[in-house]
Amino acid sequence: FRCQSTGTEETKTKRNLLDNASNLLTNLLSGGNLGSMPVAEGAVSDLFGRPLFFSLYDWFLEHGSVYKLAFGPKAFVVVSDPIVARHVLRENTFSYDKGVLAEILEPIMGKGLIPADLDTWKLRRKVIVPGFHSSFLEAMVSVFTNCSERTMLKFEELIEREKPGEKTIELDLEAEFSSLALDIIGLGVFNYDFGSVTKESPVIKAVYGTLFEAEHRSTFYIPYWNLPFARWIVPRQRKFHNDLKIINDCLDDLIKNAKKTRQETDVEKLQQRDYSSLKDASLLRFFVDMRGVDVDDRQLRDDLMTMLIAGHETTAAVLTWAVFLLAQNPSKMRKAQAEIDSVLGQGKTTLECIKKLEYIRLIIAEALRLYPQPPLLIRRALRPDVLPGGYKGLDVGYEIPAGTDIFISVYNLHRSPYFWDRPNDFEPERFLVPKKSEGIQGWAGFDPGRSPGAMYPNEIIADFAFLPFGGGPRKCVGDQFALLESTVALAMLLQRFDVELRGSADEVELVTGATIHTKKGLWCRLKKRTSKTHSNNPNTQTKGV
Ligand code: HEM
Repeated sequence: FRCQSTGTEETKTKRNLLDNASNLLTNLLSGGNLGSMPVAEGAVSDLFGRPLFFSLYDWFLEHGSVYKLAFGPKAFVVVSDPIVARHVLRENTFSYDKGVLAEILEPIMGKGLIPADLDTWKLRRKVIVPGFHSSFLEAMVSVFTNCSERTMLKFEELIEREKPGEKTIELDLEAEFSSLALDIIGLGVFNYDFGSVTKESPVIKAVYGTLFEAEHRSTFYIPYWNLPFARWIVPRQRKFHNDLKIINDCLDDLIKNAKKTRQETDVEKLQQRDYSSLKDASLLRFFVDMRGVDVDDRQLRDDLMTMLIAGHETTAAVLTWAVFLLAQNPSKMRKAQAEIDSVLGQGKTTLECIKKLEYIRLIIAEALRLYPQPPLLIRRALRPDVLPGGYKGLDVGYEIPAGTDIFISVYNLHRSPYFWDRPNDFEPERFLVPKKSEGIQGWAGFDPGRSPGAMYPNEIIADFAFLPFGGGPRKCVGDQFALLESTVALAMLLQRFDVELRGSADEVELVTGATIHTKKGLWCRLKKRTSKTHSNNPNTQTKGV
């Protein structure tokens, strides 16, 4: 990493020394390995002063869609090209593992899908994917609705209690979405009601503590927690291991209970995908019932923990940024509310309703485009590879030695001026318009018709220029769960409330770890809706509210 020469002489000298040391290390350890690949030169302040993905974007515009980021003894290849991303994620997927990410997450998730080695992953993925079948997702819609209802009632009660007569309340919606998503993931994955929307408990605190530590580890460059005795000496590491124990004990009890209460009648219902009379529709029930009580407790616990972590903050973040974007675009907010009024009236959200809430679904997709969670996908080459040539500015295939760490910048892909018109604008309608692909070699272009029947835009329609849930064999298993959940929660919020930011949009600073979130919360003013919004859309029909 090269430092910018600004500031006092003393600072300049220090920076020169740092530059020289950094260059030396860079050249020694990584230079030359990656041939003629452009190298990003940035300021250290780029790294620490703002989220890393902002700098990665600037360097993408400067250096092209594949460049090397040399950073101390480490070098990363940063990819912002759909053809190269498709190669790494889908076409040559088994030549890569999760590298740094697996090192960070393994102490938390064990052999769960995200950090798992390829052999374990192949076995577990086959067991987990069938759990997310369409009848399960349909059954989950009522979990999403009931949990969201609990949140909306809380808001209504707060309004009544705190500002009677005014009908408004100020709330940190990011924190509220986080509680809502935690309650939903607990019920959906292991039928455990955290009840975090209305209370605090040691398990809830432990979940947040663990997430906090995962985030700390993903942004802290020296893995001191691997040092011998760190877990006993360093207070935050002691706390982390205590938190893990609390969650693991809770999961172990749930697994024990699921095994004890296994009933053949439920197994039959599950085999027939009949969720209508099942008391417990959770994934844990499915895994235990379908695999029998011999299923390995430790592996099951790792799987549950992985889904708890993977499906919680990610979904909360999508809702946070969807509201942030809508609050700055009042006409789109009104259009969304008009659709909700027309489809739902004051009724509940069902799967049939979600199918009709097209604009809300596109808003969720657009929020994921502008604020992808996570903004980077991480891979490490297990063997030498040759990256394919990509679009503009990348007509050579670079050789990748084994051990190379790769960041696929989803943020860059999603805001690439090569693939999106006005890439930084919030425009949910864009997904309905096919984009031209002329002149972009090897990239088939953006085609909404390529994924018929899909309820949400996905990586297939955009041929890997849109990767909200990754792509290829290691694509997110919970994508439809998360999309339906976000649609229900957003629709129910806008059905009941008008939402505006408490301050200006600029005051909402971003920070990032595994997900992009706000520095101090998404403080919003909620006002109970009393009348229906009328949109300019002539197709929107309004029903009595
Ligand atoms: C993997 C995003 C919700 C479980 C992934 C990946 C992404 C992602 C991008 C691929 C990572 C990679 O290739 O390195 C999201 C987003 C979500 C979300 C944006 C919410 C909006 C969920 C939910 C669950 C879940 C609700 C579970 C209930 C997983 C698992 C994997 C994964 C287990 C690993 C898959 C594998 O390696 O085979 N997610 N996810 N995610 N996600 Fe999600």
